[in-house]
Amino acid sequence: MSRGLTVAGRRLELVRGDITTQALDAIANAANAALRGGGGVDGAIHTAAGPGVLDELRSRYPSGTPTGTAVATAAGRLKARWLIHAVGPVWTGGTHGEEALLAAAYRSSLAAADRLGARSLALPAISLGIYRFPLRAGARIALDAVLHHFGGETSLELVRFVLYSDETLSAFSVALDELAPPA
Ligand code: APR
Repeated sequence: MSRGLTVAGRRLELVRGDITTQALDAIANAANAALRGGGGVDGAIHTAAGPGVLDELRSRYPSGTPTGTAVATAAGRLKARWLIHAVGPVWTGGTHGEEALLAAAYRSSLAAADRLGARSLALPAISLGIYRFPLRAGARIALDAVLHHFGGETSLELVRFVLYSDETLSAFSVALDELAPPA
């Protein structure tokens, strides 16, 4: 099952799947601030991409990157040109600026894709796994960030959310209907 929406000539898609199989210009990762790999989508991406990505992260970003920001590397063995490692917030109840930090992580990923000149980008559901961010709120923040980005100058023609479970896909689908009712 998938969903899609065209805004200002740019395509936003929701699909169920494994982001490491995406053959798009850039694939975003849900990383941690240390940029040293981990479980979840971070683990899947490093396993599929190979050890060169971690080597590049260590040499180019020895101090990692703060929550709410994103950095780019090559994509190793993945069918993409670039990886964008975004750091979302850990959910601690909603009183520590988590919503703003999640929006910033998506905005940073989109800005990094534009700096690279990427025309297509695959995004995971940042912070909605190990970082325990609430599903419905996280989906709305994610879609709002992309729809806002589509309203400005961007090289992106396609942004595809690759969601790993029916539950997550459904939450994004409901949020998309709320943010952009069917034509
Ligand atoms: N493709 C797409 N999405 C995936 C994949 C995959 N192969 N594997 C997991 N996901 C989904 C999860 O189901 C969840 O919906 O990615 C979303 C984000 O979950 P996590 O990967 O747990 O990321 P996050 O919640 O942001 O936590 C980040 O986890 O792996 C560590 O190093 C990472 O410390 C960081 C933390």
